Amino acid sequence: MKTIYSAPRGTNDILPEDYKIWQYIIDIAIENSEKFGFFRMQTPTFENIELFKRSVGDGTDIVQKEMFSFKDSKGRHLALRPEGTAAIVRATIQHGLLNSSLPLKIFYIMNFFRNERPQTGRYKEFYQFGVELFGAYSAIAEFEIISLAYSFLNELNVKDTNLNINSIGCQDCRKNYVYSLTKYFEKYKEKICENCKNRLYNNPLRLLDCKEKQCEEFKLNAPNILNYVCADCKTHFNTLCNFLNLNNIPYSVNPYIVRGLDYYTKTVFEFVTNNLGAQNAICGGGRYDDLIQKLGAPSTPAVGFGVGLNRLILLLKNKIKINYKIPHIYVGATDEEALYKASVIATNLRARNIITQTDLMSRSVKSQMKYANRIKAMFSCIIGKNELTKNSVNVKSMSGEENFNISIQNFAEEFERILKN
Ligand code: HAM
Repeated sequence: MKTIYSAPRGTNDILPEDYKIWQYIIDIAIENSEKFGFFRMQTPTFENIELFKRSVGDGTDIVQKEMFSFKDSKGRHLALRPEGTAAIVRATIQHGLLNSSLPLKIFYIMNFFRNERPQTGRYKEFYQFGVELFGAYSAIAEFEIISLAYSFLNELNVKDTNLNINSIGCQDCRKNYVYSLTKYFEKYKEKICENCKNRLYNNPLRLLDCKEKQCEEFKLNAPNILNYVCADCKTHFNTLCNFLNLNNIPYSVNPYIVRGLDYYTKTVFEFVTNNLGAQNAICGGGRYDDLIQKLGAPSTPAVGFGVGLNRLILLLKNKIKINYKIPHIYVGATDEEALYKASVIATNLRARNIITQTDLMSRSVKSQMKYANRIKAMFSCIIGKNELTKNSVNVKSMSGEENFNISIQNFAEEFERILKN
């Protein structure tokens, strides 16, 4: 229907019908996180803008072009969170969570904001299920979180996804690679897209995941990062591959996976799908061993990922059949006095976790029964003058097969007994 206002472009209303799928996916995210020993937490929707500049990186698209930022009345510069890792790290440092026994395993389901050009699967406000694991240097940490993402996607029966993994090395070995990459692309400086011309000196690694046609052919012959990583990074990467092989998690090594955030070290990975067009990444993550120290706490290794829930919904919509919890009973009434009684019965039933609906619209008995049918109530009854006098009411199953006479006084107790039989 036409309305004066619409939701802002790039945002989505989640209507009751869609929420069933959201709830289903969120339940599976929680169940899988708990299976791997992760605990849920939440951070504020906005943070000091400097946190994201320092963590995500000044030269990234997120910081340069995509943050929703504003000043509060005291002139403090804030930004709606564009991602979760920086905020979770800030909170774990602030509350001393990294001082207790490690590993610390956190998961979150939060909304994020990026001022990107909206298209299918890319929104200005979107949701992620994310995990962050602190304290483990070994590649088994990457394996555990990849295994968690894999188990989550499998349980949702998400088809046609590929896991791509890569190593972007540590601060030391990456320097050599970035130097060679820049030298290589300088030769094609005039031919690459405008964005890549900027990336050449601001963020050269990102040259590798440019999606523009004109840059494709240059990428093909670009130096391969895996030939540049140091012995330690190479062993780490091979160890991860061993864990994945042993546990039958299929993957491809893809040297073009570099990720759009600056904090990564060593392993980076993405789960991509063939069924979403250009926005094909449904999960992205990796190791970020330097970030915690960069934000002022003692050096602590960390790994994590974020799954884009809106993209998952696009993939799964129409594929999952979920039913509403149907009402156990509709308690109708013919007049005001009966409605008072119906309200007390409903309160007592709900106290016993029995899903109950009653008449909110002063409808005729016929309309009330129509409504009870529409909401697929299992049982119904109508309270009127007669029932109040007799202090009992006839409860019928909507299929018409069962019929019970129940005392109004002990309605909730007696009805619960019927339901249990
Ligand atoms: P990211 O790759 O920027 O990583 O985002 C993770 C996932 O969020 C993407 O794979 C995608 O599914 C979804 N996503 C990103 N942007 C949008 C958008 N505009 N609209 C809809 N979905 C989107 C991170 O955010 C890292 N914090 C992940 C991480 C956690 N790394 C380590 N720990």
